[in-house]
Amino acid sequence: MNVSQFVLASRPVGLPTSDNFRLEKISLGELKENEVLLKSWYISVDPYMRGRMNSGKSYAAPFEVDQPINGAIVAKVVESKSKSFLPGDIVVGRFLWATYFTEKPENLRKIDIQNVPPGYYLGVLGMPGLTAYFGMMEICKPKKGETAVVSGAAGAVGIVAGQIAKIQGSRVIGIAGSDEKCKLLKEQFGFDETINYKTSKSIRKDLAILCPDGVDTYFDNVGGEITEAVAANLDFHARIALCGQISQYNNSKPYIGYSILPHLLTRSVLLQGFIVSNYSARFGEAYAQLTKWVVEGTLKYTETVIDGFDKLPEAFLGLFSGKNQGKMMIKTE
Ligand SMILES: NC(=O)c1ccc[n+]([C@@H]2O[C@H](COP(=O)([O-])OP(=O)(O)OC[C@H]3O[C@@H](n4cnc5c(N)ncnc54)[C@H](OP(=O)(O)O)[C@@H]3O)[C@@H](O)[C@H]2O)c1
Repeated sequence: MNVSQFVLASRPVGLPTSDNFRLEKISLGELKENEVLLKSWYISVDPYMRGRMNSGKSYAAPFEVDQPINGAIVAKVVESKSKSFLPGDIVVGRFLWATYFTEKPENLRKIDIQNVPPGYYLGVLGMPGLTAYFGMMEICKPKKGETAVVSGAAGAVGIVAGQIAKIQGSRVIGIAGSDEKCKLLKEQFGFDETINYKTSKSIRKDLAILCPDGVDTYFDNVGGEITEAVAANLDFHARIALCGQISQYNNSKPYIGYSILPHLLTRSVLLQGFIVSNYSARFGEAYAQLTKWVVEGTLKYTETVIDGFDKLPEAFLGLFSGKNQGKMMIKTE
């Protein structure tokens, strides 16, 4: 059987380009005992993959040049030589960026797509949702009457993080990169206020007006100047969940900004970096809560779905220019 797959063609310097990816045709052999043949359906692209394109050691192993890329995928079982799976079952897991692939049953998790769209398992009910849940509930700990700020607010993680702060009773300010995204956050996702960081003359001053009593919790997805502006507006005993630094991922040189540390010191702020896998022992609890919120309609979600397996590089690159609202993914058919 002939299949297509994407390999890492070269390591990027600075902003990646489509030249860093190569589409290859390969042949899949006969399915072996205790293996399952799968067809990719929805394939996730995520900012952390930028780090995996570098050679350096990080919390996720680097992709290897000339080897297939892998990531979160919702797939359909086509053929099964395992008792646990039948053709037609829908599964999620970490698989190769390939149109078809074979896997061992222990690497597959069956999902229910009766009540939620399949792509949700890559977003609100996948790694981004878990990240928002643990960053908010375990680090930010938003409370009733407080003010929460979320950067990267209209993305896969941010949209959930802001709504969780809202569910906990905080007033929520979202920072995002277009008027359209800001409108969406207020009208569809219940954010109280928003700032378009691309058109704001001073994010720091805008925040000071929107948060006269200071910022109590900050869920940081982006870092850089946006985080500096938030730091200048923190209240005493504020909590910061350091989730992502996407504004820095393509820097070839270290960013030397204004130091946020004096603000943290003088306002007794707690800042904690975290990786979602720190909480893997508690994923079950988070899935249950997120699923309940989604099914009962308390937590809303959105996706940007691009059609076509060959669009994977384009979808991934789009993350760095804000092409997505909610979770970015491709659909193969
Ligand atoms: N700690 C963890 O375990 C963990 C897990 C998942 C994700 N993360 C991190 O969380 C962050 C969000 O991830 P996600 O999957 O939800 O991605 P996402 O927000 O869905 O997509 C990326 C968004 O980042 C914004 N962006 C791109 N370049 C930017 C820049 N220079 N300055 C400010 N904003 C920029 C864009 O929105 P705009 O239009 O608003 O610019 C873009 O839509 C990323 O930093 C990611 O690495 C961390």
